[in-house]
Amino acid sequence: MKTIFSGVQPSGIPTLGNYIGALQYFPEMQTDDSHCFYCVVNQHAITVPQDKAELKRNTRSLAALYIALGIDPNKSTVFVQSEVPAHAQLAWVLQCISTIGELERMTQYKDKSAGAESVSSALLTYPPLMAADILLYGTDIVPVGDDQKQHLELTRTLAERFNKRFNEIFTIPEVQIAKEGARIMSLQHPEKKMSKSDVNPKAYVSMLDTDAQIRKKIKSAVTDSEGVVVFNKEEKPGVSNLMTILRTCTKQSIAEIEAAYANKGYGDFKNDVAEAVVATIGPIRDRHDELVASTELDRILDEGAERANKVARKMLRKVEKAIGFTR
Ligand code: TYM
Repeated sequence: MKTIFSGVQPSGIPTLGNYIGALQYFPEMQTDDSHCFYCVVNQHAITVPQDKAELKRNTRSLAALYIALGIDPNKSTVFVQSEVPAHAQLAWVLQCISTIGELERMTQYKDKSAGAESVSSALLTYPPLMAADILLYGTDIVPVGDDQKQHLELTRTLAERFNKRFNEIFTIPEVQIAKEGARIMSLQHPEKKMSKSDVNPKAYVSMLDTDAQIRKKIKSAVTDSEGVVVFNKEEKPGVSNLMTILRTCTKQSIAEIEAAYANKGYGDFKNDVAEAVVATIGPIRDRHDELVASTELDRILDEGAERANKVARKMLRKVEKAIGFTR
């Protein structure tokens, strides 16, 4: 039996990037031979300031999206991080075996703190909390996008360090990163990653955008002046990004896409990308809208928290025993 764990921050509405890089794999990882934990990581979200009402709305919305994607709450455990106190408790222990140097080397910390006058200390200690999420459940596999690779490496390092120093308690998790689409780029600045916290909403397609918004955003995506649909990430980042999006939404190969648009301009190409995205996201958004206000969602999250707490508390107890938190 394999244990799968992954999480998404409710720091905004998930984007097409989150979907292509991670979310699309969540339902297919539910097999007879696996147990999946899918978490709404609201404690990670507050490492940067969040509006209270928006955080609440986004938390619910992300949980509804998980179910709308096809995660089956009878097979998988869907829960909210702050409802399982063991995450913060283990995070503290893992902070105590992390060094400031290794946390400062995390590129996400460097990016988020660059140019800021002051940042929360939790932005630096974010990775031990992520490690706690994963290690509490004896996780074997963590499906994530490319930007989480370094955090996963640190998780493995911390697990190995703990096991060596105290007791062989933690499973060393493997990262699973897709070959295609693990880094979807901004529609307005294709040299930058697509991000749900981008100040410019034209830079990303949100999973809850209307069909009209999706079409408008894809049509105004930055490309180049060449007018040829050819894959070249360095020289044609905008077009290549749209090709990756089309490829993952339609399962066509890059060669097939190049051949299909050989004698056509960007107009036809962008139209087809927009329709492919509408066809992929539209049904998920519609199911989300039905679920988000339902009491069914509360029942799922209550049950999820109960199941997660049971597993997490057991692991935390082992950790406490190993480090001497006993009388
Ligand atoms: P977050 O909320 O930033 O992103 C959620 C998932 O989406 C992936 N992703 C992308 N994939 C492709 N292209 C993009 N432009 C793109 N942007 C984001 C991310 O890699 C991620 O898989 N630290 C995590 C949340 C987390 C977590 C965990 C993940 C907390 N604890 C434990 C796995 C296991 C984060 O900030 O993801």
